[in-house]
Formats: sequence, structure tokens, C-alpha cells
Amino acid sequence: MEKNKYKLQDLEKLVSLAKRRGIIFPSSEIYGGLASVWDYGPIGVEIKRNVKNLWWKSFVTEREDIFGIDASILMHPNVWKASGHLDSFSDPLVECSVTGKRYREDHIFIVEIETKKEKKVISVEASDEEEARSLLSDEIITITNLRDTENKENPSPDGGILSEARNFNLMFKTFIGPVEDSSSTVYLRPETAQAMFVNFLNVLNTSRKKIPFGIAQQGKSFRNEITPGNFTFRTREFEQMEMEFFCSPDEDEKWHDYWIDFSMEWFTKFGIREENLMVRKHGKEELPHYSKASSDIEYLFPWSWGELETISNRTDYDLKAHSELSGKDLSYFDQENNKRYTPYVIEPAMGADRSVLAFLCDAYCEEETEKETRTLLKLHPEISPIQIAVLPLSKNEKLSEYSRKIFEKINKKFTVQYDDTQSIGRRYRRQDEIGTPLCVTIDFESVEKDDSVTIRHRDTMNQIRVSSDKLLDAINDQINSFS
Ligand code: GAP
Repeated sequence: MEKNKYKLQDLEKLVSLAKRRGIIFPSSEIYGGLASVWDYGPIGVEIKRNVKNLWWKSFVTEREDIFGIDASILMHPNVWKASGHLDSFSDPLVECSVTGKRYREDHIFIVEIETKKEKKVISVEASDEEEARSLLSDEIITITNLRDTENKENPSPDGGILSEARNFNLMFKTFIGPVEDSSSTVYLRPETAQAMFVNFLNVLNTSRKKIPFGIAQQGKSFRNEITPGNFTFRTREFEQMEMEFFCSPDEDEKWHDYWIDFSMEWFTKFGIREENLMVRKHGKEELPHYSKASSDIEYLFPWSWGELETISNRTDYDLKAHSELSGKDLSYFDQENNKRYTPYVIEPAMGADRSVLAFLCDAYCEEETEKETRTLLKLHPEISPIQIAVLPLSKNEKLSEYSRKIFEKINKKFTVQYDDTQSIGRRYRRQDEIGTPLCVTIDFESVEKDDSVTIRHRDTMNQIRVSSDKLLDAINDQINSFS
């Protein structure tokens, strides 16, 4: 899809467009909102649904080797014991003695600086050293990550002293039943993946499928993140689209490469520019506890590169751990080769909200016209919340009657919106800003003279006149011109 060179530099522009056009609102806004929690509005919910449906189609229904499930958010607590989340899904945190505010230990830098008057030691919160340096204007003598400093007492960014680091588990706890004690504690799932492992036998037995095959699901996950932010990029409640692909241990690397390529193609197929995507292989020190190798697909967001998806080789870690704790045999007998093994797992794990954000950032455009700056979302037609807007030039009765017939003619095949409010210029602007690829405009000539309508193309603003009996074909051609 052709896009102009304009690149969204300032996330605030998107946040404000999203609010103005009913894409994403702050949650519980009438009560002042809840930090880093967001709601999708009438336009946003359609965009997110389209992204999830396209993923489901590509990763599940178009394939013969993947099965979908829809599991519960609450699971037996032993799931999180076996998976390692109870022990190791945590961040080391430090606390300020004055404000009680907690910081991730690895996000604090202890800096010795020299001002005009004195040398002193301060601390700065930043996600890496480069960012920490960019926040300081004084001369830096030394800069050390808090994890690596030997000092026992360190200043906090709020003026107090920082405590020793303590591990803080990221899982949200709640209780099942009326008694709130340790025996009734359950967790909101921090990933959707575990449901695929604990249902491995159920799906294997009911599908009668041989390995390799995959199990996929989409759904909410919850993490009590210490530093959420950047709009919907990192939130405490979010949606994942994950697939666990079970394969023979000697084919793991082949499938790992396959799913990395498949995922990259998926993002570009639906409109993300290739130059804004990259694959980043994890270093050994950053691999999650279950992974032999992981690669991230990252997108160049307005603030920096950020992860959209991690594709991991989880080996037989999860199936073996669940087998051990549950006492159920989760191995597989390969009849062709007459051998028994615990399958290896390749996991493409994508965030639905992050993907929506990347599609929005990549589609955001500003174009200078003679009169104004035109803002538009150059979304792929399959992601656009509305594919065609039917716009009668005025609310005149004859025009309305004719336009309603045009609406009925096309709304079985496309997502169509009928809009007869405000001036035509404002309606075009609104449709551009929510990414509608085509507008069909009906004027008096349509009704009185030629039984034809005008199709306006979002990106080129070119207009063509089409007779109403050829409208569906013309729309198909125009829609195809976007992909
Ligand atoms: N099962 C593996 C797993 O959950 P992950 O890399 O922690 O791996 C997968 O998460 C994807 O879920 C991420 O690439 C990201 O798109 C999304 N994700 C993770 N944490 C998130 C958060 N706090 N807010 C929004 N999306 C998140």
C-alpha cells in the first residue's frame, strides 16, 4: 500500500485524534480516569476487532494445522507454580524513604555530576543509560545502573533514600469463593499461553491430529506493571493473541524461523511499512526463564523501537513442568518413527493492543492542502472500521430515499456508514480521520439525471462517477487498489 513519507513523531497527536473520533478513551474518565487504563470507543472497537479477526483467520481458520480455544482467565493456582510465574515473574523494586514511590531497580541510574558550584550524586529514572544521559544538562563524571553500584545508600529521584531491592510479583491476586485466605487465592492470568499447555491432551485427543500442530487463543491478560505508559503500549490489562506450535524436538529451529517469517509477513500484508519493522534476537541474558531462543518483532513507535510480538522456542519446558506437577503424562507417541517424546513448542505471542497501536501510528498521515492540513489514517481496508461512507449531499427527501437504496445495495458486502449530517467537507474530513477508504456521494444529478454516484478515494482524493448498477464492481476495484 502506498503511503506518504509523513511519519508520526508525536504520540500526543494520535492520542488526541483517538479521543476526538471515538477510537480510544481514558477509562472511567468522568472520575478522572485510571492511570494507563483505556477503553476502545465505537470506532476503535471495530479496528481492534478487525485486527483480531485477521490474526484469527491467518493463524487459525485458514490453516489445517492450528486449532483455536477460548479458555478461562482464572486457572488452577498450580498452573502458575508449574509455569514458573509464581517464583520468577517478578521485577526487583526499590522504594523511596520519603514518598514511598517504587521504582524498577534497573531503571535507576546513580549519577555523579559537576555543576558550577559543586560535585554531587543524584539519581535519575530512565529505561536505559542513553535516556538517562539525555535527561541531564550538567557534566556527568560517572553514571552507574543501581543494580551495579556497590553503595548501600543511594538517593532517590524524589529526594529520599532508596531501600534495598525486593522482588515484586507482577501477577494480580484475587480470591475464589467467600473466604479470603491463602487457600482461596487465584491469579488473573499474566499470559494466555498456559491454557494451551494444560489443554494439550484435550486438543490432541479430540482433534486426532499428529504433530506438528498448534493451539491458539486470544484474550485478556493482566500484569501489575511497574512502569506502564506510552498510551496503550504498556498497560496492566491487555489482550494477547498467542499460538503454541507443538513440534518434534529435532525440528524446533526450522519452525522457529518459519513463525518469525510468517509473523513479519502478517504485519506487512496488512499495511505496516517494512522499514518500520525489525526482528531483534534476544541476548542470552534477557531470555525469559522458559526460552531457549526468542526473537522480537519490533516497530518503530514515535518514541523508539518497541516490541509487538515475541516468537520463542519454549522447548519442552512447559509440558514437562505440567506433567511433573499434575502427574499426567503429556508426552507424545510418534507412530511413524516409533518414538516417544515431549513435544517442543514454538510460540508466536502478539499483543492485540500493541498491534492496533502500531497500525494506527503507521497509518497516521498529515498532508498539506491549499486550505488546511488534512489528517488521515491510511489504514488497510480490512482494518478500517468503516469501509464505505454513503454521503447524500443534503437531507432532501428524494436524495435520502435514493441514498438509502444505495446503502442497502452495498452494506451486505462491506462495512458501511450512512451519514447525512454537517457539510460534505466536514464529513470527508471525519471519514479521512477514521480511515474510511471510500466515500460514495449522492447528489441531485444522481436522482434526477444519470442514476450515477461519485466514489471518492481516501488517499488520492480522486473522484470517479459510476452508474449505480456498476457500483459494486467499481467499489471492489477501488478497494483492491489499496492493498
Ligand atoms: N506467552 C509469552 C508472553 O506472554 P510476552 O513477550 O511477555 O510473552 C507477548 O508478551 C506480547 O504481549 C508482547 O509482545 C506484547 O505485544 C504484549 N504485551 C505484553 N505485556 C503487555 C502490556 N503490559 N501491555 C500491552 N501489551 C503487552
